[in-house]
Amino acid sequence: MKIYQDYIDKLLENSKSKSESRFAANQLLEMHTEVTKRESPLIVELGVDKGQSTRVFLNAISHKINAKLISVDIKDCKDAVNSTDWEFVQQDSLDITSLLLKKPIIKKGIDVLYIDSLHTQTHVLKEVYNFFEYIKPNGLIYFDDIDSDPYMSNQRKDSVSTEIANREIFELLEAIFRANHSSIDFFINRGSTGLGKFIKKTNLGDKLNSPLFIKKRHFKIFWRLLEIFKLKKNYRHKNSTNESFLINPNND
Ligand SMILES: C[S@@+](CC[C@H](N)C(=O)[O-])C[C@H]1O[C@@H](n2cnc3c(N)ncnc32)[C@H](O)[C@@H]1O
Repeated sequence: MKIYQDYIDKLLENSKSKSESRFAANQLLEMHTEVTKRESPLIVELGVDKGQSTRVFLNAISHKINAKLISVDIKDCKDAVNSTDWEFVQQDSLDITSLLLKKPIIKKGIDVLYIDSLHTQTHVLKEVYNFFEYIKPNGLIYFDDIDSDPYMSNQRKDSVSTEIANREIFELLEAIFRANHSSIDFFINRGSTGLGKFIKKTNLGDKLNSPLFIKKRHFKIFWRLLEIFKLKKNYRHKNSTNESFLINPNND
């Protein structure tokens, strides 16, 4: 039997539930499925705590040859799990220089990076920009805590600080994606803490462009009037021709 299989079985059971526990289960199972598909993955996890995600990764790599999970946490989590496939490093996740000295294998390329340490926009920004060049082509970066909805006023986990922190992290991911369309794909899971996924489309060593934050427009009538005044053209979907389609659905 694979290590921590009982935990995976619990997640699978919860993923069928009608309750919101399925969202939490599905987030972890999304990462489990992706890691399971890879032959000898190197996984780097930032943030261990009690080791929920650590168990998920270890189960997914158990019985795989040359697969490894390196986990980093600022506090001592060395007893969170027990596996020969696991290496724990106690340090600040932002100190990539020290991590590369301790674990030079990271320079050969990470298959899956999981970012779940300090949930602030500035911390996550530094983590993703520090690690991106070490992600392999088609490697994944997962981000926990990106959904603000469950934390909004009178919602299941009403918490103004988490609502705002998660929204800021989500807006960061949007801004990174906006500035890097040619090098990342972006997907999300919602309903629990929220899980973001980037797939790297460029090579080992390639870096990200700086995030592009754009102010969101509200008050439609105000903006339309201003734009009419400035003679600014708005995009309009055209049904009469094919020019609105990025991929022409017809054969012509
Ligand atoms: C949400 S918990 C991780 C949960 C874990 N991934 C799981 O699924 O059970 C966040 C962890 O990040 C750690 N942490 C906070 N700031 C950190 C930092 N600057 N560097 C590394 N770890 C940090 C905390 O000690 C805590 O254990």
